[in-house]
Amino acid sequence: MSRAQDVINRINKDQQNAVQRLIDWLRIPSISTDPAFKSDVRRAAQWCADQLREVGFDTVEIKETRSEHGEGHPIVLATASPLPGYKGPHVLFYGHYDVQPADPLELWESPPFEPVIKPAVDGGPGERVVARGAVDDKGQVMMFIEACRAWKAATGHPTGGARFTVLIEGEEESGSVSLKSFVEEHHAQLKQCDVCLISDTGMLGREQPAITYGVRGLAYTEVTLHAANQDLHSGLWGGRCPNPISELTKVLSQLWDKDRRVTIPGFYDDVRPLSQKERDAWAALPFSAAEALSKIGLGPEADVGEAGFTTLEREWGRPTAEINGIWGGYIGKGAKTVIPAHASAKVSFRLVADQDPAKITSLFFEWLRARTPAGCRWDLNDHHGGFGVTVPTDSPTLAAASRAIKAATGIEPAMIKSGGSIPVAGLLKDQLGIDTIFMGFGLADDRVHSPNEKFEINCMMMGTRSHALFIDEITRQ
Ligand code: BES
Ligand code: MN
Ligand code: MN
Repeated sequence: MSRAQDVINRINKDQQNAVQRLIDWLRIPSISTDPAFKSDVRRAAQWCADQLREVGFDTVEIKETRSEHGEGHPIVLATASPLPGYKGPHVLFYGHYDVQPADPLELWESPPFEPVIKPAVDGGPGERVVARGAVDDKGQVMMFIEACRAWKAATGHPTGGARFTVLIEGEEESGSVSLKSFVEEHHAQLKQCDVCLISDTGMLGREQPAITYGVRGLAYTEVTLHAANQDLHSGLWGGRCPNPISELTKVLSQLWDKDRRVTIPGFYDDVRPLSQKERDAWAALPFSAAEALSKIGLGPEADVGEAGFTTLEREWGRPTAEINGIWGGYIGKGAKTVIPAHASAKVSFRLVADQDPAKITSLFFEWLRARTPAGCRWDLNDHHGGFGVTVPTDSPTLAAASRAIKAATGIEPAMIKSGGSIPVAGLLKDQLGIDTIFMGFGLADDRVHSPNEKFEINCMMMGTRSHALFIDEITRQ
């Protein structure tokens, strides 16, 4: 029996234990954005470090982090030294152990941090683990760790002799704010890596695994419009002075023109146009916009966005502006006749190559200032940002990943992009010059960031086998 077959057999035999280990990790509410969960976030890092030690990584450390925002959440850093004679790439495996907040809690069918295994539904989802973080990203990090566990058992080495550095961070869901200085501080060590591997993306369909060769960037802001120095009676003051909610919504509604293009001057200046080759390739993918919409309760008429582009082009290759939250005034029960002193919104932009998040944020703020409603003033905050990336599709490591997925699943992976953002990828390209291979096994209906997030066990197994065979591929290079 080949080494690879031995590893695959072990993975298959160990499925139930692997799912139980994932469930252990999912019980820890590692919500990075909420300070109330600080010690849980650390516990999740420790749990992960223990697993990496158990599967045989030689140095496993919990590293403290800092940024201008103060103390950050810890990073788990581990290495597997290569066996003599290893000639393949030094791979940096990146993942995150932090999760998004679980709210709205009342929409969960089972508590978000009490994972349950649900049976397959006919014509619906397969057998799955339901919990916050199931697919994003603990379940996907576990695919790699379980692949290493099987390699360790089969060969005595967690990556079959290949050289790996593992970096699992705890701030991805809150913008990876401490990561930049961490990468700077560990530049010498990380610079030795040739390529990054991230398992934090999705497949094209349940039976169609994929390699993601690009993600979008992000610029995230929060803006507040202030008017009077106090809340006012809307009968006595309505029509006499600015209402910041009305004024804010009037300004923000000007963000798009009738073709749903963003109106900020200069916004599209650095956008790399889509090539005809890429447009043709995407058009040929087995993807139905109407089917995707039907899964989120919408009809085909809801396929709206920037004029002149298909759904996939809009998600993968075009930038957007979104209002993610908006508030002010009275939102409690009943009615209150009030003109509030201020109103706020969270406004973010998804970016494509070669847009610079800092530049987009300053263009937006300039645009707002030029539209300051009479009698009002802005308070403008830059939350976080990250560059989008597009990686070459003809690299030897990407070819190795593609062969691994084909061998593990029997299906040639589709080459896709994603509209989501993974800030580390742009950072690594920028600071270390390395490209990322995104090998992810999520599904479009996994409810990422939503109540009842799930990871299907079949996907987890496909991913574990693919990671195991990726290791096999690079050890044979
Ligand atoms: N894993 C996701 C991004 C993703 C999901 C990419 C599915 C491709 C397919 C990641 O954890 C995420 O949610 N990123 C955030 C960015 C972050 C700065 C908050 C995002 O895209 O909103
Ligand atoms: Mn993620
Ligand atoms: Mn996420």
